[in-house]
Amino acid sequence: MRRGAIVRMVAIGVVVGVAVTLVAVLIPWLPDSASKEMDRITFTYWFATVICIAIFALVAAVILYSVRTFKVQPGDESDGPPIHGHTGLEIVWTVIPAVLVVAIGVVSAVVLAQNGDAGTNPLQVRIVGQQFAWRFEYPDEDDLRSGRELVLPLGRNVELELVSVDVIHSFWVPEMGQKQDLVPGTLQRLVITPTRLGSFPIICTELCGLGHSTMRSLVRVVRPAEFDRWVEETRAGAAGGDSGEGVFASAGCGGCHALEKAGTNAQIGPPLERAELERAAEEAGQPLEQFVEESIVDPNKVIRSNYRRGVMPETYGDTLSQEQIDALVAYLAGAEE
Ligand code: CUA
Repeated sequence: MRRGAIVRMVAIGVVVGVAVTLVAVLIPWLPDSASKEMDRITFTYWFATVICIAIFALVAAVILYSVRTFKVQPGDESDGPPIHGHTGLEIVWTVIPAVLVVAIGVVSAVVLAQNGDAGTNPLQVRIVGQQFAWRFEYPDEDDLRSGRELVLPLGRNVELELVSVDVIHSFWVPEMGQKQDLVPGTLQRLVITPTRLGSFPIICTELCGLGHSTMRSLVRVVRPAEFDRWVEETRAGAAGGDSGEGVFASAGCGGCHALEKAGTNAQIGPPLERAELERAAEEAGQPLEQFVEESIVDPNKVIRSNYRRGVMPETYGDTLSQEQIDALVAYLAGAEE
């Protein structure tokens, strides 16, 4: 091959490579990492991307050069030269891609193994998914429960145990990379090691019903000392018996219902303001507190107009204790503000 041809192909390859690299680097394809696992996933992504850019630039250079140089001239009806393949070239373009694909596979396998390793002393957290809310339980901390947010200490390995009480959900924190389906009847695991302070969204990424798009929560990463303080405070708050406000939050009522004093405004189920409940109880011909309790444990018995049957889980009679239900009824229907 002439030297000029090689120089021209290399030039085309460099131009294409730089252009594609700019697309890869300048557009923020991935969120900024907030966990060790996401760091490794990001490394794998870039490892594969660099290989892809190099191969793409090489192929593009050869194609663009060939299309321009070997174009048939108008009026030229002659056959091309008889070519019988090139064994050396075929070995090269088989071996190099094979090596690259194996390398990507090995890197991915190593990262998968590392991302599944919770280390020797992980913080255990149980994530419970339910239409349409997340609940967080800390078995290491006397089964402490949190319905509002998942609070994690910075830098500690966290082993999440994921369970669903109804349908398939999927747990995902984009900044932390790890993602896992919650399949009813099975127990899934996921390891997260937070590396950045702040709040990050938790998103359900499996279509799980009418309120799927509202099934969001927050993970808040705090310093270890602040985490201990949060545990103490939350435990002290729970120690005085479950408050109605606490049950409302931990049971995830706000995932579907609007209630001003709880600061929720979801529209999946009817609003739970006292005046609304009084009107509904009157329509149902029941005393207010009885109507509210029945609506919690047997939600499909009375369905308000404009709302659909079968959306609210019928499991609260089992998952909440009678004390919790009483507290919730008092919170929603009681006289106190
Ligand atoms: Cu739960 Cu989508």
